[in-house]
Amino acid sequence: MMTRRRASAGLVTSAILTAAPSLAATDSTVLELPPPRIDGGKPLIQTLRLRRSIREYSDRPLPVQVLSDLLWAAFGINRPSGDRTAPYWRHIMVIDVYAAMADGVWLYEPKRHVLLPHSRADIRAQTGLQDFVAGAPLNLVYVAHGERMRDIPANDRRLYASVDTGFIGQNVYLFCASEDLATVFRGAVNYEELDRTLQLEPDQFVTFAQTVGYPRG
Ligand SMILES: Cc1cc2nc3c(=O)[nH]c(=O)nc-3n(C[C@H](O)[C@H](O)[C@H](O)COP(=O)(O)O)c2cc1C
Repeated sequence: MMTRRRASAGLVTSAILTAAPSLAATDSTVLELPPPRIDGGKPLIQTLRLRRSIREYSDRPLPVQVLSDLLWAAFGINRPSGDRTAPYWRHIMVIDVYAAMADGVWLYEPKRHVLLPHSRADIRAQTGLQDFVAGAPLNLVYVAHGERMRDIPANDRRLYASVDTGFIGQNVYLFCASEDLATVFRGAVNYEELDRTLQLEPDQFVTFAQTVGYPRG
């Protein structure tokens, strides 16, 4: 399955500090993702025809190559400038993408295209109020960093962060439609509990979540 490389604790810690300053490393293992496949896929018009929300999931895990392709499509780097596959507010990247899977919670770090460890706990059931979230192989959790929007009032922070998240979510929808995967973007989340479970800082908050997996049946 995933290529695991033991990295030095210092390297991992500094990478985590860059991506999300307040998160503590809980392990020294970085999941290196294979390079994303950035050609192929279904034509856009066919993908748009297939895009839909699906709420019945197989428990089959996602192969690491699919995980790599998915995360790149979601919010990976698509230009030498470091800019992303989704647009974002004021050229400030306020959203980080977390991947909640059976083996723990991982933070996607687009610069190195790796997953950084956040927690060893399986929190999939806490990522939403619907039953299917616990058994699906992957729940993406979108986390906004209010501290990167210092001059914006709290209400507006949620607005801009939600718009940024929506673009990422649509990338995920289109990728899933192209790859015959199932997905649903979700606001039915116990936000207080999930913020606590993820040990977010006061200025950070979950915007939405999105389940991804293979359709059941
Ligand atoms: C902001 C937002 C929040 C949503 N929250 C949920 C949710 O919590 N649970 C769910 O099953 N679907 C959720 N959805 C998916 C919508 O129900 C779905 O997109 C809509 O019914 C249209 O269906 P379609 O995506 O298949 O076209 C959400 C969609 C959006 C845009």
